[in-house]
Amino acid sequence: MAKIGLSKICVIGAGNIGGTLAQRLAETDVAGELVLFDIVEGLPQGKALDIQESAPVMGFSTRVWGSTRLEEAVDGSDLVILTAGLARKPGMSRSDLLSRNAQIVKGHAEAIRAKAPEAVVIVVTNPVDVMAYYVRKVTGFPRERVIAESGALDSARFRWFVADALGVTPRDVIGFTLGTHGDTMVPVLSHCSVNGVPVTKLLPPEKLKAIVERTKKGGGEIVDLLKTGSAFYAPSAAQLEMALAVARDEHRLLSCSVQLDGEYGFKDVFLSVPVIIGRSGISKIHEIDLSSDEQTALEASAKAVSEDLKLLATMPL
Ligand code: LAC
Repeated sequence: MAKIGLSKICVIGAGNIGGTLAQRLAETDVAGELVLFDIVEGLPQGKALDIQESAPVMGFSTRVWGSTRLEEAVDGSDLVILTAGLARKPGMSRSDLLSRNAQIVKGHAEAIRAKAPEAVVIVVTNPVDVMAYYVRKVTGFPRERVIAESGALDSARFRWFVADALGVTPRDVIGFTLGTHGDTMVPVLSHCSVNGVPVTKLLPPEKLKAIVERTKKGGGEIVDLLKTGSAFYAPSAAQLEMALAVARDEHRLLSCSVQLDGEYGFKDVFLSVPVIIGRSGISKIHEIDLSSDEQTALEASAKAVSEDLKLLATMPL
């Protein structure tokens, strides 16, 4: 029998992503307890109370509370979602955040190791594929239980752009991106369809090329529009998709970033690939056929993440 629901979920970081994610999680009523953590006194408590007060109207039973005490917040969690960290400003790449955000997630990973040793961890902090690698290293958790968001968000953007170009409901667009959450990500046209009809039969090559390019720069497009921060509605929706797959033991096939150990020819690097995700985290990594262009693009993605990992190894943290 699937275990439906979790007793405790902790969302670390009460910024735009953490706050929106906490709201989405509370409204799905999937956990007994939902804790929002942040270092800014009053922020997690205020957002949590605000969400909690919506419960009578929205009809959920989850107990939502906020804390500025990390160990108390993380203690005994079944699922921890790491959203804390600096967001990009216009002109910055996700890699520019490397050192600052690694310092931030280090303490969180240590607290998770000590207080929630059985938790599944979803990493969202950017540069996300590198931060996930670091979180896994600090926690020492098996690779099945440290998962990064990358592909789930990029796939949502990809599917929306295809739906918009075709004038069909986004629900009918099936597709995903692989690789890193950066400019070298790989939107996979060879496996993208509208309910099984290949998108390559429905849109001309130049339109498909434009969709691929827009998907790769999807996060930057929002940063340029907002000017003072990065996206949070689509990111928190993608995080919810992953969290629900865990909480409801759904065994969904999603593109998520996981530490590879020879799959697709890569080792010791986090990249988004199709995985089965459920209550224990990742239960299977699928190796699918890619076109030679897609495989070459995936190699560039792996190289970009490896370079950031090398840089991270030189930083005093
Ligand atoms: C984005 C950020 C959250 O892609 O990485 O919007």
